[in-house]
Amino acid sequence: MPLISRGIVLAVLALGAASGRALAQAHDPRAEIFVRRGCTECHAITAFHVKATHDVGPDLTLAYGDVVNRYGVSLEAFLYEPRGLMRMMLASHLQLPSVDRDSMILILGALYKVRRAELDSTPPP
Ligand code: HEC
Repeated sequence: MPLISRGIVLAVLALGAASGRALAQAHDPRAEIFVRRGCTECHAITAFHVKATHDVGPDLTLAYGDVVNRYGVSLEAFLYEPRGLMRMMLASHLQLPSVDRDSMILILGALYKVRRAELDSTPPP
């Protein structure tokens, strides 16, 4: 990743997690786990109407499929052996017990399937 965005991310970390947490109001109960674990500091989840506190990471709504396209691995493999910036995040800043990790994989998998089905049933313009 370019140095500049790494700088932004580090600045976000320096700002501290607590300041923005209240902004990320969860509307869907499934969003709660991502808010609680600090993911929504950097990631929006538009399907759950959750905004990122600091929009530095990709929207997680389609992450289940995006990770396969971007990194060539499943979301499960990615979260257990993250690449790029998330490797640093999950090694230091974020505590993510495997029970939460597995829940997130299931939630994002379900979200992706619903979204795909919606997109597939929309007639092309
Ligand atoms: C400090 C900011 C930050 C936090 C906190 C954070 N991420 Fe990320 N995440 C990023 C950035 C930036 C990327 C883009 C990948 C890169 O540049 O390495 C990313 C990428 C990802 C990806 C790949 C998405 C895709 O579409 O390719 C997933 C999945 C992901 N993060 C999940 C999480 C989860 C789950 C949490 C909470 C446990 C979390 N992230 C917390 C910044 C963050």
